[in-house]
Amino acid sequence: MTFNELARRRYSCRKLAAKPVEQEKLDAIIEAGILAPTAVNKQPFKIWVAKSPDAVKAIHDATPFTFGAGVFLVVGAKREDAWVRPADKANFADVDATIVATHLMLAIEDQGLASTWVGHFDAPKLQALIPGLAGYDLVAIFPVGYADPSAKPAPQHAKRKSVAELVETL
Ligand SMILES: Cc1cc2nc3c(=O)[nH]c(=O)nc-3n(C[C@H](O)[C@H](O)[C@H](O)COP(=O)(O)O)c2cc1C
Repeated sequence: MTFNELARRRYSCRKLAAKPVEQEKLDAIIEAGILAPTAVNKQPFKIWVAKSPDAVKAIHDATPFTFGAGVFLVVGAKREDAWVRPADKANFADVDATIVATHLMLAIEDQGLASTWVGHFDAPKLQALIPGLAGYDLVAIFPVGYADPSAKPAPQHAKRKSVAELVETL
């Protein structure tokens, strides 16, 4: 499968089957996250694997977007550890963590699993419930699992602006 075939095949899967995810698949996904590049290689991020009943309940308490998953990956950025661009003091923590999250998202697909990037959650509430998440910008939660046989892409999946709108050759 080429990279574009993988990218085309991925969609936000909002209905996951009850089948558990094998640890080897989670390990491969996490390896892909850790292989992500970061500015000045500062690696100012953390990936949490939430699978204990308490951690899963905390995620359910923080977002309705759980889609039947038994395991969740949470990605956070630590601003104090990130590279800061001298010219404008832009902090690259969230950029770095977002690249990591993108690697995770595509690796989930590559492992034959399914997910949705969830950004709509109550981050302060999640950090109160799981104190280890405090001090990070939480950029993504990925509910991970096997796609339910009845799962299909939402209509907006197929809507992409045209190349002419999105790309300009200078
Ligand atoms: C940063 C980000 C945050 C998102 N947050 C949510 C979310 O909280 N809940 C949800 O159902 N989908 C969420 N999505 C999924 C998008 O709605 C989805 O990627 C988009 O509609 C395109 O559809 P596709 O992923 O099927 O191609 C998010 C996607 C991204 C990239």
